[in-house]
Amino acid sequence: MNLPSHGANPSHLYNASGIARPDHVLDFSVNTNPLGPPEWLKEQWGRYLHTIEEYPDPTGYKAVMSIADKFDVAYDQVLLGNGAAEIIHFIARYTAGQHAVICTPAFSEYEDACQAYGCPIEYVPVPISSWQLPIDELVEQSKKAGVIFLCTPNNPTGQSFNEKDIVSLLDQTRHSNALIVIDEAFYDFFGDESLVKYIAAYPHLAVMHSMTKMYSIAGLRIGYVISSSPIISKLKQYRPHWNVNAIALQVAEEIARDHAHAMKTREMIKGERERMKDLLEKLGFLVLPSAVNFYLLKDPQLDNQKPILHFLLERGIVLRHTENFKGLDGKWLRSAVKREKENNRLIEALKEWRNKC
Ligand SMILES: Cc1ncc(COP(=O)(O)O)c(C=O)c1O
Repeated sequence: MNLPSHGANPSHLYNASGIARPDHVLDFSVNTNPLGPPEWLKEQWGRYLHTIEEYPDPTGYKAVMSIADKFDVAYDQVLLGNGAAEIIHFIARYTAGQHAVICTPAFSEYEDACQAYGCPIEYVPVPISSWQLPIDELVEQSKKAGVIFLCTPNNPTGQSFNEKDIVSLLDQTRHSNALIVIDEAFYDFFGDESLVKYIAAYPHLAVMHSMTKMYSIAGLRIGYVISSSPIISKLKQYRPHWNVNAIALQVAEEIARDHAHAMKTREMIKGERERMKDLLEKLGFLVLPSAVNFYLLKDPQLDNQKPILHFLLERGIVLRHTENFKGLDGKWLRSAVKREKENNRLIEALKEWRNKC
């Protein structure tokens, strides 16, 4: 059985690895907020339920306006999706049959969506050690591309591209046919600043956000894209009627006004991420710098990290393999930053690994 192509699927990973799943599993392959949804959401949950008897507003007007206000853009510059994953599929459909460029390593859904819509794919590798945007190559590729996908902060590396480099890319591609798609699904684990501020200057820029990560509502599904109004109106053609459910619409409207949960989360994540990096490095692991709620690590004594993945699976700890991330190819593992107690369990298991070696 093939390894799962996404994290957050422990049973599939246990089956694929041929390891019996222990009763208690700690899943570090999922990269949603370890604090869970905000308290106000858990308390108000019941208030939203009455809406399930009716069809939701197909335009999602209130949620769209709440997001538009947050980023100071117009109503017709925002499109909601059933998670950011649906937005990726709208974009691939919009550029169907044209060349798609993907900066790698990257979230696998860009590739899957582009393949589904017959886009020949060019992969532009980013060296994980310097994490510098390969601007010249991307500009060259933009001459024949319909779309370029960048993810910043990046999943799976956790690193962010230099903002000046992104602006330089936007400048140099402004007369090309390529839509520059920047996936900021994890931007709010880093801060409030978003590249949405460049949309007025660069109509060929589209910025995607997900609400499922920071607000830990992966099962509810809500994400959006902000771009110039002509691009949004083209993407809207592909939106199925009622694509976002009534509860998600109400929650999205409130989330766009939230600051407290994101701030509290960022503070906690930063502290735990730095503590973990320090402890892991003391144990002899290599840890890449990260701006968000996950990071890449590896035991430098191993080329492929599968032995550690399996060692941890046997102890009920699930990390994210990187076999299907181009450029990583199993040579790293991705771990979420969780709460202190859970992170300590990972450290204890890795100490055991070290003692065994
Ligand atoms: C980089 C990136 N973009 C988009 C998504 C999709 O997010 P959503 O849950 O909003 O569909 C994910 C989910 O893992 C992701 O990692």
